[in-house]
Amino acid sequence: MTPGKKRKMTKTTEILEKQKKYLWSNHILYYTEPLPLERGEGMTVWDVEGKPYLDFFGGILTTSVGHNHPEVVEAAQEQTAKLIHSSTLYPHENHVNLAEKLAEIAPGDLQVSYFTPSGTDADETAVLLAKMATGQQEIVALRHGYSGRSAVGMSLTAHSPWRIGGTQVLGIKHALNPYCYRCPLKMTYPSCDVACAQDVEDVIRTTTSGRIAAFIAEPIQGVGGFITPPPGYFKIVTEIVRQYGGLFICDEVQTGFGRTGDKWFGIEHWDVEPDIMTMAKGIANGFPLANTITTAEIAEGMAGKGLTISTFGGNPVSMAASLATIDVMEKENLPEHVAVVGKQLIDGLKKLQEKYPVIGDVRGKGLMVGIEMVTNRETKEPAGTAVNHLFEETRQMGLLIGKGGLYGNVIRVAPPLVATKEDVDKALEIFDIAFARVQEEM
Ligand SMILES: Cc1ncc(COP(=O)(O)O)c(C=O)c1O
Repeated sequence: MTPGKKRKMTKTTEILEKQKKYLWSNHILYYTEPLPLERGEGMTVWDVEGKPYLDFFGGILTTSVGHNHPEVVEAAQEQTAKLIHSSTLYPHENHVNLAEKLAEIAPGDLQVSYFTPSGTDADETAVLLAKMATGQQEIVALRHGYSGRSAVGMSLTAHSPWRIGGTQVLGIKHALNPYCYRCPLKMTYPSCDVACAQDVEDVIRTTTSGRIAAFIAEPIQGVGGFITPPPGYFKIVTEIVRQYGGLFICDEVQTGFGRTGDKWFGIEHWDVEPDIMTMAKGIANGFPLANTITTAEIAEGMAGKGLTISTFGGNPVSMAASLATIDVMEKENLPEHVAVVGKQLIDGLKKLQEKYPVIGDVRGKGLMVGIEMVTNRETKEPAGTAVNHLFEETRQMGLLIGKGGLYGNVIRVAPPLVATKEDVDKALEIFDIAFARVQEEM
C-alpha cells in the first residue's frame, strides 16, 4: 500500500481485521491474504466480494455431496423446526435410523455405533473402548498419522507440527508407515515384500509389554499427505496386531463415505475387516458429527463399567443431515462415480507430472489425490515455497485446494464427490497453467 493512502474498507478487510483482533492468532489460515467465504452451492463457493471458486478441497473432505445440497438443507431445516436437541438421554428416531444405516454399509460385523461431534472424539472413544475391551493399555499408531487435537489425539499423531505443547499420553508407540515415495527402509515396492509392515511387530516386541490394546491407522494417511499403502500392507499388519491381542481401529475420518471410489470405506480396498472404525467429516456434509462403530461383542467391553456421555453426540439435526447425505450418495451411486472421475483426475495429474519436474509424486485413490512437490526429483527436497506459489496462482484462477504432509509440500486434491468430468477438466486446466508458472520461477 502507498504510504499515507487510506485503505479501502471492504467486507474482506473488515472480517480480517476482526479475525486478527478477536480470534487466537494460532488459527491456520490459507493464502497470503486469507479468504473469507460467504456462500456455497454444489462445487462452488463464493467469497464475500462475490468471486466464485471451484472447490477442490471440499471443506477438508467434508462437504461430500456438494455445498448446501438441497436435500441435506431440507432435512436439516425440517428437523430444526421440530426439535434441535434433546440429548441422548432420550432415544430419537434419527439416531437409531442412522445407526441402522451405518450398520448396513459398514464392512464385516461392525454393527453398533456411538456418535460424537468430531473426529477427535471418535478416535478417543475408539481408543478408550479398545483399552476397556481388551484390558490392555498400549496402542500402536503409525508415523505420519493424524488423529486429532486432544491429548490422546495429539499423542497418536506423528507429525511434530501437530503435537503442540509437548503433550504426551503414555503407552502410545509409533511404527514406520508405508510411505513408498519416501520409503523409511529405502526399499522399493514390490521387491521390498512390504517389509515396513513387519515394523509393527518389532515395535510391539521391543517397546510395549508384548500385549497391546489396539493398532490405529488411516487406510490412506490424510493430513500426512494422502500417503497410500501398497497392496498387502493392512493384511500383514492386522494379522500381527491380532497375534499380540490387539484390536484394529481403522480411522476412516477422511477416507469414509465413498471418498476412495467404488467402496463405502477406504479399508475395503484391502480386504481387511476392522474391529473398530471411526468416521466423521463426509458423514453429514458439513454438520458436526462423528461415529465410532464396532461389533456388538466389543462394545460390551464398556458396558456396566461406569458412565460416559456426549451431549451433542446424538444431535437430531446432524443425524437428519447425515441420513439425507447418505441417501444422496446411494441415489447417485457416488462411490462408483468417484472411481470414474477419480481416475480421470489422477491420470490428468500424472500427465502434468511428465511436464513439470516440481511434481515428484502423484498418488491416492478416488477423489483423494496427493501431489508431492519437490525441488529436485533425485534428492526429493520438499518444495515448500513452490507450494505457496501454487496456492496463490490457483486461488487467483478460482480453484481451491488443500495441503498437507510432514514438510507441508503435498497438495491435497479432494473435491466433493459430486465433481463432474467437466469440473475435473477445469481443475486440470488451472493446475496446468499454475504449475507452468511455478516451474518457471524455480
Ligand atoms: C484421519 C483423521 N482422524 C481424526 C481427525 C480429527 O477430526 P476432527 O478435526 O473432526 O476432530 C482428522 C481431522 O483432520 C483426521 O483427518
